Amino acid sequence: MVKYVINGGHPLFGDVEISGAKNAAVAILPAALLVDGICRIENIPQISDVTYLLEIMREMGAGVRLVNSTTIEVNGSTVRNGRASYELMRRIRASYYLVGALLGRFGRAEVPLPGGCDFGQRPIDQHLKGFRMLGAEDDLKNGVVTVCAKSKLTGASIYLDTVSVGATINIMLAAVFAEGLTVIENAAKEPHIVDVANFLSSMGADVRGAGTDVIKVRGVSRLSGGTYTIIPDQIEAGTYMTAVAATGGSIRINNVIPKHLECITAKLVEMGVRIDEFDDYLEVSRTGPIGRANVKTLPYPGFPTDMQPQIAVVLTMASGTSIITESVWDNRYRYVDELSRMGAKITVDAKTAVIEGVDTLMGAPVKACDLRAGAAMIIAALAARGTSEIEDIYHVERGYENIVEKLTKLGADIAKVETPDPVDYQEVV
Ligand code: EPZ
Repeated sequence: MVKYVINGGHPLFGDVEISGAKNAAVAILPAALLVDGICRIENIPQISDVTYLLEIMREMGAGVRLVNSTTIEVNGSTVRNGRASYELMRRIRASYYLVGALLGRFGRAEVPLPGGCDFGQRPIDQHLKGFRMLGAEDDLKNGVVTVCAKSKLTGASIYLDTVSVGATINIMLAAVFAEGLTVIENAAKEPHIVDVANFLSSMGADVRGAGTDVIKVRGVSRLSGGTYTIIPDQIEAGTYMTAVAATGGSIRINNVIPKHLECITAKLVEMGVRIDEFDDYLEVSRTGPIGRANVKTLPYPGFPTDMQPQIAVVLTMASGTSIITESVWDNRYRYVDELSRMGAKITVDAKTAVIEGVDTLMGAPVKACDLRAGAAMIIAALAARGTSEIEDIYHVERGYENIVEKLTKLGADIAKVETPDPVDYQEVV
């Protein structure tokens, strides 16, 4: 078994470089299948979700060439509309972007229902609503979604019942070659939505309005290829901001777009953290006590749900009682039981968590329940007194590039350790 072993209590100091945005990369790679030519994609994060996606794309016949550790060339002209392995597809949430890309390119897609973090219900009804309105039919059998269009897809006006990152991107992908104009209303506005739209436009698509709640896609005949650089990861940057808020110290976070971090910055400043913004980096420090605060997660530009576990850790050591309201996911508090092992005092009732601040957390053996919960456990262990061990770290490595190396460079005492699997003592009868 592989785990992180962390000796906590050390403030963080130094520089950290932010990698390319995971939630942009896992959409832009499938989008490259729409391109009948070569896309050169730069600033791709080295994370397992990307590794799995590239494997799936190769299985589908795409040419994939690693130019260097963060630059990939994808040749979509050799893609067959084949099915990739069920097992591979199920591992990541973003495999559902293959539906929009293959439907848009070939008029047909057959993709297993996605996996990804378990926050309770993760429906795709809005994706299917968009595909139907473009003229496709869908069927779900044995865990595989089949979507196909008897004739060329036709542009439509689609009003999303709920703000959905995945549905907004998937409908954009399906609409790229549709006849006429597609209008997506009540669209999500996250930075990675804009990044996917900019990627499509740079390859020859006609996409306007991304970043607002109305996106217009006018169908074109083909995408010819080009070069694109992925934006820095808003959530990775936010994770390091909350790490130094929890441990104390002073760090410089390089390769960021401060505008994307405004809500996280505002909340941490409210809690007593000092944050200075520059063109493409932040200086973040905390020397005094952590102030209490209330947090409500919302679609962008509100406080990101993907930062909820991380800010909760900081609030567990605040002076006073704080309240978190999770408005995006039904059950994104699975990490609370693990945090309680470290002495956190959190009460959860449905979508609300009440956090009573304690002086300090204590190191303990804990598990990563999902990607961001895993990041939160690392932050808690860095701030806690004593040693912590974090299991199931594969969740973390889905979305954080070189997190051990980056934290070590900031002065953290963290190591990735291989230990024998625990003996499974079967009850002897
Ligand atoms: C994306 O998930 C992200 N994943 C998630 O980040 C993030 O938490 C989420 O957006 C919200 O920002 C990727 O980009 C790969 P949604 P997605 O569709 O697209 C409901 C991380 O940590 N909904 O925006 O699956 C849904 O139940 C991951 O990086 C429907 O009802 O999220 C939820 O309540 C975890 N019907 C809300 O919308 C649908 O058809 C937002 O979901 C689709 C969604």
